[in-house]
Amino acid sequence: MAATAAPRPLQAVLDVAAAAALRAPSVLNTQPWRWIVHERSLDLRADPGRQLGAVDPEGRMLTISCGAALDHALIALRTEGYDARVELLPDARDPELLAAIYPAGHHTPLAEDFRRYQTTLRRHTDRRPFGPDPVTEDMIAGLTGAALAHGVHVHVVRDDQVPTLSALASVAAGEELADPAERAELARWTRRAPHATEGLATDVTVQGSPRRVPLRPHAEDAAGRLPAGPGNDSGARYLILWGNQDGRRAWLRAGQALSAVLLTAAESGLAASPMTDLVEVTDTRVSLRRLLSWQGHPYAVLRVGVAAADLGVPAAHRLGHDEVVEIDRPSS
Ligand SMILES: Cc1cc2nc3c(=O)[nH]c(=O)nc-3n(C[C@H](O)[C@H](O)[C@H](O)COP(=O)(O)O)c2cc1C
Repeated sequence: MAATAAPRPLQAVLDVAAAAALRAPSVLNTQPWRWIVHERSLDLRADPGRQLGAVDPEGRMLTISCGAALDHALIALRTEGYDARVELLPDARDPELLAAIYPAGHHTPLAEDFRRYQTTLRRHTDRRPFGPDPVTEDMIAGLTGAALAHGVHVHVVRDDQVPTLSALASVAAGEELADPAERAELARWTRRAPHATEGLATDVTVQGSPRRVPLRPHAEDAAGRLPAGPGNDSGARYLILWGNQDGRRAWLRAGQALSAVLLTAAESGLAASPMTDLVEVTDTRVSLRRLLSWQGHPYAVLRVGVAAADLGVPAAHRLGHDEVVEIDRPSS
């Protein structure tokens, strides 16, 4: 008779989930999170030491990044056979505690759970201009559905709104670079050597190239080294993730939605890159609301499209497990 493997202890399963979350996208690859693995629950904490204090003083992007990490952890838990109950901001006296995850019942992993987990291993931000192939309405419906599952709406920027978006992107980039503290912060997090485990290495940011809507320059004089390739963003679509609330709970949900949209895009054969300087800068964030007909609050702008050439996406590397994950071992 074949021996049956003993089930993994719950704390080890939770550690697997925390480890999977290290691959989540984060603003400038700051990875502003910490995970505490308890015996029966998992805590997601903000790491204020990794907050972009000048560019993101309210912690909006930090919190959205942590929401994306939460989504990644829950994906891993499902493939490990667990549903989970999640409490967002469970302790008003402990604002750095963003979420507590409690495994709650058995989940039989489905093929789509395994596929999604596999996607977390290969998805990366592609900042090169996309090719002319269209983003189909079916693809858009998939992305919209992925966000709505987290209560977040997607506005697909109409062609007649693209010039406004383009102008706002220029304003946002200009405002961040005009502020000495913001410029210094962007430079600090973006001029990293290849294989740096935090921040953006110059091999993942793109050499300057004209586009319909400019991407954030990342730092004035630190042009990326990744060749732009043959695309010119002619087939790119621009999405605004938005919702009715603006605050930390809403930003966590926005991060979960952003993660789900990025992973759905990758599974649909789409490349994607967030463009959040438009949301970080107060003036352009307010102006973006006009594109939403003043219906709600923008959380992130996302460029999606079909890669212009099958060149592969360079990976931004991550901090090691022990730098971010703490195992809570009860003292005996
Ligand atoms: C909240 C948030 C904001 C981001 N903003 C931008 C952005 O404005 N421009 C950009 O090129 N990438 C942006 N990104 C993508 C990150 O730079 C990227 O996820 C990170 O470097 C990790 O790399 P990867 O996505 O390739 O794994 C953002 C990601 C998140 C989660």
